[in-house]
Amino acid sequence: MSLIENIIKLKKEKNALILAHYYQRPEIQNIADYVGDSYYLSKIAKESPEQLIVFCGVRFMAESAKILSPEKTILLPALDAGCPMADMAEVEALVELKKQHPNAAVVCYINSTAEVKAHCDVSVTSSNAVKILNKMDKKEIIFLPDKNLGSYLSEQMPDKKFILWPGFCITHRKVNPSNIADIKRIKPDALVLSHPECEKEVRALSDFIGSTSEIIEYATKSNLKDFVIVTEQGVLHELKKRNPDKNFYTPGNTMTCVNMKKTTLEDVYDCLLNLNNSIEIDEEIRIKALNSLVNMHNYAR
Ligand code: 13P
Ligand code: SF4
Repeated sequence: MSLIENIIKLKKEKNALILAHYYQRPEIQNIADYVGDSYYLSKIAKESPEQLIVFCGVRFMAESAKILSPEKTILLPALDAGCPMADMAEVEALVELKKQHPNAAVVCYINSTAEVKAHCDVSVTSSNAVKILNKMDKKEIIFLPDKNLGSYLSEQMPDKKFILWPGFCITHRKVNPSNIADIKRIKPDALVLSHPECEKEVRALSDFIGSTSEIIEYATKSNLKDFVIVTEQGVLHELKKRNPDKNFYTPGNTMTCVNMKKTTLEDVYDCLLNLNNSIEIDEEIRIKALNSLVNMHNYAR
């Protein structure tokens, strides 16, 4: 039996659910029950009846699933797959910042640790942040850790005052405006579709800004043929599958998230076989962090 056949067999035997983010390797996306963006995967993990979930993504995603469903076993196949941006926010500095802005709502990108979520009012993802923030009455917002998503949000709602944490995604930061200009010189009609984790100068050159699944939907629905995709290259797998006749260009060959690419088929097989790499969270932190994720799901509904 091949490795893939063994994974499918084990998955059935153990009644497990395999989730994969769009940044995962193509072969991982192919064996997953569901592939999606951060919000979609968080919803599926919460609502699915399976008690065993193999979360092919990075730690904050598996942690969020565990926070919402402590009774489920959540396995992270590559235990060292973290998110450098999530690690840019520290609790002590956040507590200080909250003291300086006692009336601000504290909003964290889901790309943050359980400890940071425990100090926040609500979590958001790139696909639901505008909707959620527009529903909130507070005019002052502490937003962390991504200054790029934060500044994008502040442009969408000029009536609110944003206090931005200086974090950023090292993968999206690799692109600069000249990379996009180089493609546009050859393909002037190509639409530029970017993730809000990109720097402001890159967002300014974009025709559409959205989460991974929103970028895929946009390109799929469009009548046009050429697109510059400014996010991690894993999304190209789904884009090409759904749109075999369209052309997708990437700015440079640099947009790879090494952490997202850590998960291999061997890791998935191993953790399903041995039920190792289970995510555990201190109960006191989990209860506090739960509030921000429950609020996200309620606001985003
Ligand atoms: P989305 O899939 O929600 O767009 O998130 C992108 C990301 O950086 C996940 O780490
Ligand atoms: Fe973190 Fe960026 Fe990788 Fe997403 S793409 S997991 S934000 S480093």
